[in-house]
Amino acid sequence: MTVGTLIVAAGSGERFGGHKQFERIGGVSLLDSAIAQARSVSNQIVVALPLGYELPESTPELIYTFGGATRTGSVANAFRVLGDDVEYVLVHDAARPFASPALFERVVAALARGCAAVVPAISSVDTLKVVEGGMVRQTLDRSSIVRVQTPQGFARKVLAEVVEAEQDATDEAAIAEQLGYPVTIVAGEELAAKITLRSDLDRWRIPRVGLGFDIHPFDPDGGGDLVLAGEHFGPPGLVGHSDGDCLAHAVADAILGAAGIGGIGDLFPDTDPALRGANSMVLLGECLDAIAAKGYQIHSIDATIIAEHPRLGPSLGALGRALGTVLAAPVLVKAKRAEGLGALGAGLGVATFVVATVL
Ligand code: CTP
Ligand code: MG
Repeated sequence: MTVGTLIVAAGSGERFGGHKQFERIGGVSLLDSAIAQARSVSNQIVVALPLGYELPESTPELIYTFGGATRTGSVANAFRVLGDDVEYVLVHDAARPFASPALFERVVAALARGCAAVVPAISSVDTLKVVEGGMVRQTLDRSSIVRVQTPQGFARKVLAEVVEAEQDATDEAAIAEQLGYPVTIVAGEELAAKITLRSDLDRWRIPRVGLGFDIHPFDPDGGGDLVLAGEHFGPPGLVGHSDGDCLAHAVADAILGAAGIGGIGDLFPDTDPALRGANSMVLLGECLDAIAAKGYQIHSIDATIIAEHPRLGPSLGALGRALGTVLAAPVLVKAKRAEGLGALGAGLGVATFVVATVL
């Protein structure tokens, strides 16, 4: 059987407050997640994008086209470019990025059994009531009520008639039903929930963790000031290509690692002469821009500085605030001595460990 999936991604996301289909979770846009989930059952995928959007390059298996002013218009536009050999058509919302391949397979299996139209549905675990003006008017029998999701499946001929009907509806199955086709239910899943409001993203954001470490020796000649999070502690300074700010460097490594980008050296190689004496807090701001460009925001930073001297206790709050100002995130900075052990214990340098979580 040949299956084509139409992914409607041409909405304006009014309730969300912007084009939600391009919003990223875990570094991947909702649309790209939906495409990835649909791939295993689809011989061809057609994506309907907002008018005026720069269309990515199409391949025979993945075609991008423009949607319409209504959802049904978007389905119609995508249907128009679907390959002639496609026998079964799925219609899926880009706003349901995590509908599982198993759900796609259930819908396709029902079509293969000869069903004209198929919708995934889940029953309501909550009691359902009809309300009016803030008052309950009626309590419904929830056993006969389901919530319907996508992907919805159709025999090609059925979807062709749905499109020709030129009616607008929140789902295509409603039009198939009006046309008199039987609409079959398969088990839906909570994973296939639709993202409608910005707050719907919260349940999907899984924190990612990054570890940063840095160590610099003190300059035996005294050098400049010891610099931590841009704050100066007087000489001796640390040896380093930039300002030797090993706290800022470890924070940068932690956030870049959490975002899956790499380390500070990947963005700012220490062979770059332009970075000699560079202000590491400025570089840290650029690392923040890099993780933001991947769709991440910092959730928390926890740092530990290991230094025999100077005494950092009274300054830790200021260090946390300095980092927090650059990163617009809560930052905790702690300090420890190495109890005389090893080079750090001998006071030859400073090391920092940082754990960052990003969402
Ligand atoms: N959709 C579409 N073309 C439209 C309207 C909606 O392709 N003219 C798509 C959306 O991009 C989304 C899916 O239909 O993937 C479900 O619609 P909905 O959740 O309502 O998304 P939006 O219309 O973008 O949001 P809103 O109604 O809040 O504006
Ligand atoms: Mg809409």
